[in-house]
Amino acid sequence: MRLRVKPELLFINKNLNIIIMGIFDKKLNALKQLSWEEFYKTPLKKKLNYFENNGRMFDCLFAQQFSPENLTRLFEVANKIRKIAKSKEGLDWLQTLLSHKRAMLYFVQPSTRTFVSFQSACYILGLQVSEIRSTSTSSELKGESPEDTIRTFSSYADLIIMRHFEEGMAEKAAWMLNRTKRPISIINGGSGKDQHPTQALLDMYTLHQSFLDKGGISNKTIVMVGDLKRGRTVRSLTYLLKHYKGVKIIYVSPEYLRIGNDIKDFLKKHKMPYRESGELDKALKEADAIYMTRIQDEYDINGESKNIDFTKFHLTKKHLRLMKKNAIIMHPLPRRQEIDVEVDDDPRAKYWRQERNGMWIRTALIAYISGIEDKILNI
Ligand code: CP
Repeated sequence: MRLRVKPELLFINKNLNIIIMGIFDKKLNALKQLSWEEFYKTPLKKKLNYFENNGRMFDCLFAQQFSPENLTRLFEVANKIRKIAKSKEGLDWLQTLLSHKRAMLYFVQPSTRTFVSFQSACYILGLQVSEIRSTSTSSELKGESPEDTIRTFSSYADLIIMRHFEEGMAEKAAWMLNRTKRPISIINGGSGKDQHPTQALLDMYTLHQSFLDKGGISNKTIVMVGDLKRGRTVRSLTYLLKHYKGVKIIYVSPEYLRIGNDIKDFLKKHKMPYRESGELDKALKEADAIYMTRIQDEYDINGESKNIDFTKFHLTKKHLRLMKKNAIIMHPLPRRQEIDVEVDDDPRAKYWRQERNGMWIRTALIAYISGIEDKILNI
């Protein structure tokens, strides 16, 4: 049956759209007038639409950009890609999807898995890849600013995936490119001590898969252990856990490395139950997921990590008997001694799977940002 809409309603609707678009454009134009310093200070909620295109994520910079709806969609796309890529025929088809596009991997802070998983994700979708892995091999060594370097990439690539040692640099790159005539998407692969949104995405994908037949992520207790003060992964993961009802977080760390006050404010604002502790054993008994992290001593100012007894925050074989039978152990990796290699053989150790999940969900994210995820889901 065809619905007949009164012409005057169509007229009102069209006008309403024009008004809404007008307000939206006004807000966007107001944001465009701001200097970087003013823009950076603008509350996130107010500036998120600056990083969208027609209501769809254009730049992926913050974990807060993921809604429950796009998380679910990305999990579906990742599952489908994984299934299709199992056969040569399937992988060959995936590799046609973005074979006309190029990606720049700009990783000037050390990385193994984020770099390689994004590089693999690009190959899966057929993207051609260029890379710079240190400011010592780019013209930054000759005094070029990171902003000019990034703008240069936009002359050659359709997408920039970047990791930078400076907080806010990925956001600055996106802010700057969105003001040019050649805006291209930026994906943040880790920005200083600040955020690692795609790590949070793969962590959520791992939690989602692990608890699929155990009632889902809601009402689970997540224990985050280690350097919570300077670890960007725990920050980004906390932002995403907001989307799941009844999740309780226990932050276990040495006194000096406690989670930041901004994260505690966020938890309070969203009425998310949490507690802080210095006792790993006690928290382990309650955990449905244990998220271990290493000490981030690359951010030391005066070698302060040397004075911290981090051994109390190491997970060893003797801890395994304290844990629930169905609990899972995660780690963003790389690890040092915070998880004993003997733990690797325990069926609850999921960190190698978590690492591999990164490749699939990052492929899904590139597909989503490129607007080809429907093609994948509908095949
Ligand atoms: N988890 C993570 O970001 O690992 P890399 O530093 O090796 O990329």
